[in-house]
Amino acid sequence: MRLLVTGAAGFIGTNFVRQALGSRRERVGRLVAVDVLTYAGNYANLADLDGDPVFRFVKADIADAPAMAALVREERIDTLVNFAAESHVDRSIEDAAPFLRTNVHGTIALLEAVRGLAGFRCFLHVSTDEVYGTIPTGRATEDAPLRPSSPYAASKAAADGFVQAYATTYGVPAAITRCSNNYGPYQFPEKLIPLFVTNAFAGEPLPLYGDGMQVRDWIHVADHCEALWHVLGLGVTDAPVFNVSAHNETPNREVTTAILRLTGRGADLVRHVTDRPGHDRRYALDASRLRATGWTSRRAFADGLAETVAWYRDHRAWWDDVKSGAYRDYYERMYGARLRTATS
Ligand code: NAD
Ligand code: TYD
Repeated sequence: MRLLVTGAAGFIGTNFVRQALGSRRERVGRLVAVDVLTYAGNYANLADLDGDPVFRFVKADIADAPAMAALVREERIDTLVNFAAESHVDRSIEDAAPFLRTNVHGTIALLEAVRGLAGFRCFLHVSTDEVYGTIPTGRATEDAPLRPSSPYAASKAAADGFVQAYATTYGVPAAITRCSNNYGPYQFPEKLIPLFVTNAFAGEPLPLYGDGMQVRDWIHVADHCEALWHVLGLGVTDAPVFNVSAHNETPNREVTTAILRLTGRGADLVRHVTDRPGHDRRYALDASRLRATGWTSRRAFADGLAETVAWYRDHRAWWDDVKSGAYRDYYERMYGARLRTATS
């Protein structure tokens, strides 16, 4: 494979690239990692791969259509995995514009880059369960209607539509995966699990939104990445959608209790803060379509969470660095007033 991986220096991209050059190495002839290095991208995650003869890092914007078109031709790319995105719901509520630019226009620029490209085999678009909106009961199948609640989810749903349109109209070989909430190493500490783990280690408050009884369907990032390799191996091209889930729906309060236990902290750190506007109450995915093709998740949540907490314990320099500078401004903007009026 001659792979282009976008968003490679982010959370899932980093895990995917490290898997590619580790356990999946025999499948990779070339791996070009693209990332514009927003606040969420961290070149340090990949720096030790520099010097690997099959690996190249390119700092570039996926919405820069001429740059993407030149790169896929120069590198004779045959497979593209699109992780690059603005990915945090709370930031999308503050300002939707970067979400529209990267998630929609960026995806279109990549689709244009591979349209008609000789030898191109698959545009694997990494999407999310959030496109279905809240799922009050049961689990969403791939045929459930798209009812995005946040600007983030709306931008991802739009991008999914463009991938399907390019497959149908121009014959771009493609597949779409919609995964549930990921956790694991290298996750930026704005999302629930890394935020609460790092705050707990630092002895800082854990801002739990609303009543904390919202449900998310957690999957270890390594299981998600393995699902992506599995989909690439299916040879599908007409933009089918595959849900990816470990069928592990858990209320936020339960996740918080587990984190407190694993970090050796008490419930006094928890603060009930004002809820997120438009907050989806529950996500739950039915992944039977992908499971029927032979993929299965392998990591139990309790083990994966313990391992993840241990990773953050052992990588304090990584998150101390990430939580400095502009992060402090973000934190104050997002949580300052809410924490000052919170209840414990
Ligand atoms: P992340 O925010 O950690 O990483 C995103 C990466 O994309 C960053 O490295 C960032 O620098 C890069 N990027 C942003 N804009 C770019 C641009 N214009 N050009 C090039 N690079 C750009 O996100 P993540 O959690 O790793 O998510 C990766 C993908 O997986 C996203 O598409 C997201 O929607 C999807 N997804 C995430 C989850 C989850 O739980 N994290 C679940 C399902 C799907
Ligand atoms: P998040 O990690 O932002 O993922 P998403 O909203 O995309 O599913 O949030 C996961 C859940 O945790 C969600 O129900 C919102 C909640 N949450 C909090 O209670 N406090 C926080 O500070 C954050 C970031 C999230």
